[in-house]
Parts: sequence; structure tokens; C-alpha cells
Amino acid sequence: MRFIPLFAVAAAAVIAAWLPQSLNAQSDDVFAFIPVGGRTLLANIIASHPPADEVKALATGKHTRDEWVSYLKAHATAITTLQSLTDKELLTLADYLSFNMPLPANQMPADASKLPMDGRDFALEKCMGCHVITVVVTQSRTKEHWLGTWHKPSHMGIKLTEAQREQLASYLVLNAGIPIDQVPEELRAGGASY
Ligand code: HEC
Repeated sequence: MRFIPLFAVAAAAVIAAWLPQSLNAQSDDVFAFIPVGGRTLLANIIASHPPADEVKALATGKHTRDEWVSYLKAHATAITTLQSLTDKELLTLADYLSFNMPLPANQMPADASKLPMDGRDFALEKCMGCHVITVVVTQSRTKEHWLGTWHKPSHMGIKLTEAQREQLASYLVLNAGIPIDQVPEELRAGGASY
């Protein structure tokens, strides 16, 4: 058993050395298989120009995830974009809203790129420095298991606040566990060795 973690560390180091050149050469589309997070879902809603009072209510609301799910379902007539979301996307959006609403200034930023980061953003920004994202998004785990992973010695240095970790874990519970055959070939190397 002693050799397995050693191998894993060595494999991660090899992958880390391989990553910068190969990923820089690719477009962001290589990550398109990772489901969109709440930031993008919300930005799409704003871009569809629903009634201003509906947008205001989203920006100023304070609800749990379950309450947001009910809220969004009840407002799908006014915010028509909601009708095209899958159940999982609706839940991902509700999850994001529960973490990030109300917004600090109680209003939506005019520029949607200024919306708070979502779990997918955190994963792409913080989880590819040492191994491929595949190691992360192919895992199906509970929230407690995810939070525990980041307390392992290998993950001590990750710069995410407790609130951000909670949000990332919550996003991953809903959206990770992606089957390896849905991962682009170039991201599979090393991804299945854990
Ligand atoms: C500082 C380097 C580093 C960063 C950044 C990093 N990892 Fe890792 N990760 C490792 C190493 C080394 C291993 C293999 C050794 C081990 O399992 O602890 C690993 C293994 C894993 C594994 C498989 C083994 C396990 O612990 O279950 C998962 C899942 C994982 N990382 C998730 C993440 C997530 C999610 C992030 C972003 C929040 C992340 N990692 C960021 C170094 C890193």
C-alpha cells in the first residue's frame, strides 16, 4: 500500500510538468464537456432581458437552495429562459443563487462577467495546477468527501476560502462524476489513474 500514494504523487508531478504547454495550445472549448455553472446560467438569463423587476428580485433575494428552486419554478412564466433549463441546471442555478445572492450592491452588474465566480470557475482556476481537471470532474462524491479531500496534505495549499470550498463542493456534487468516455481524449491521460 505504501507505494500507491508515492506513485500518485509522482504521476501528479509528471502531469504537472506536461500541462502548461499542452493546455495553452488548446482552446477553452476543450472544457466544454464540464457542465456550466450558476454564473453562466444567470448571465444567460440576464442576456435574455427578462422584466427588470424580476432581475432586481434575483439580485436582492436571500433564500436556501430549495427555496430558490421553488422560486425559479414559480417565475418561469416571467423569466422564459428558465423553461429551457434541465432539472440539474435549475438546481445548479438555485445552488449558486443560495451562495451568492443578495449581491453586494443589491443589483445585477451591467457586465455579466462581473458576476461572482461559480464552482466550475473555481475548479478551472484552482484545480489544474498539479493534475488534469479529469481527476476532479470524473469523481462522484458527497460534499463531506470533497471537503475532506482538500484537507489532505496534498491539497493544503489551495487558496479558496471556506465559503468558496463549500460552493465548489456543492457544484461538484451536482455536476462531477462525468463518465471518462465523455472527457476529450487529450484530457484523459493520468485522469483515470487515481
Ligand atoms: C498543489 C497541487 C494540487 C492542487 C492545486 C490540486 N491538487 Fe488534487 N491532487 C494533488 C496530488 C499531489 C494528488 C495525488 C495525491 C493524493 O491523492 O493526495 C491529487 C489528487 C487529487 C484527487 C484524487 C485523490 C483524492 O484525494 O481523492 C482529487 C479528487 C483531487 N486531487 C481533487 C482536487 C481538486 C478538486 C482541486 C482544486 C480545488 C485540486 N485537486 C487541486 C495535488 C493538487
